[in-house]
Amino acid sequence: MIVDLRSDTVTKPTKGMLDAMFSTEVGDDVFGEDPAINALEAKAAAIFGKEAGIFCPSGTQTNQIAINILTHPQEEMICDVQAHVYKYEAGGPAFHSRISVRTVNGHLGRLSPQDVVDSINPENAHFTTTSLVSVENTSNRGGGSFYALSELQGIGKICAAHGLKYHLDGARIFNALAAGGYKALEVGKLFDTVSVCLSKGLGAPVGSVLLSTKENIKKAKKVRKVMGGGMRQAGFLAAAGIYALDHHIERLKDDHDRAKILETNLKKLPWIDSLLPVSTNIIIFKLHDSITAEEFLVKLSSKNIKAAQTAKQMVRFVTHLDFNDDMMEYTIATLNTLYA
Ligand SMILES: Cc1ncc(COP(=O)(O)O)c(C=O)c1O
Repeated sequence: MIVDLRSDTVTKPTKGMLDAMFSTEVGDDVFGEDPAINALEAKAAAIFGKEAGIFCPSGTQTNQIAINILTHPQEEMICDVQAHVYKYEAGGPAFHSRISVRTVNGHLGRLSPQDVVDSINPENAHFTTTSLVSVENTSNRGGGSFYALSELQGIGKICAAHGLKYHLDGARIFNALAAGGYKALEVGKLFDTVSVCLSKGLGAPVGSVLLSTKENIKKAKKVRKVMGGGMRQAGFLAAAGIYALDHHIERLKDDHDRAKILETNLKKLPWIDSLLPVSTNIIIFKLHDSITAEEFLVKLSSKNIKAAQTAKQMVRFVTHLDFNDDMMEYTIATLNTLYA
């Protein structure tokens, strides 16, 4: 048995998903003629109450397109210092949009309304103009932490009061909805743009959708084109996305339950120094000073378990569609004897 806990992006399409992919009709999406892509975009937009959507190859692309259409060069975006849009998208805001980023040391990857207020530049020729706030829900580097709806609404109010645009990196938004107990429609109406990944917890092989107004999505099509993201018969991938939205949302709570069980067991191990609170499908823990993440991962992989290093002593496990109860039992048993 191989257990892969590195990320929820490692899942392979299920039989049902493959059947949906191979039986779909496709067309040339650059001509707007792929029925599966059109259906996916309409479906995702309806779920979040947005007017339109655009299917893209990755969450990096949907995020960076959103940043591009919501800002102008010489403006500034506010986000958490750990945010994917800032830290893991290869300098996209500077490269694609010629904006600067004001990072905030938030709490578990999340901003508060006050953080946003404190980060808005005054109107003065020395400063860039603050024009965008981006939040990540759930927060990857925050250990899968999720915003309460009231926190998202609080930041939304600040954005409205200061004329700022508001973007959601919802790579794992359905995990946040499952754990937070609020609705996609309640979230969608707060934001100018919502990026949703189909290839993380939802288990599709490729793809993200960006949701917004018709006008913004028209602009987004041009930006996707200049990034080389216009795809042709990509409806095979969109069919996987539709299948994921229909079949893989309800089950996310199973991933969360397994993550909680792993957390309970990890807490008992003397060689683990600390864990971030586990609230969805991500578990981040710090090893005892005497063990580096590198040597831990080698030891673990000798037992056929893969995990990810996030810092010198920090390790991440992510539960997902291809991580089942047998794998969980095996992982717990292996961890219990790894340093015995
Ligand atoms: C929070 C978050 N946003 C965006 C992305 C980017 O997604 P992709 O890998 O599809 O570019 C990731 C990827 O892990 C992520 O965790």
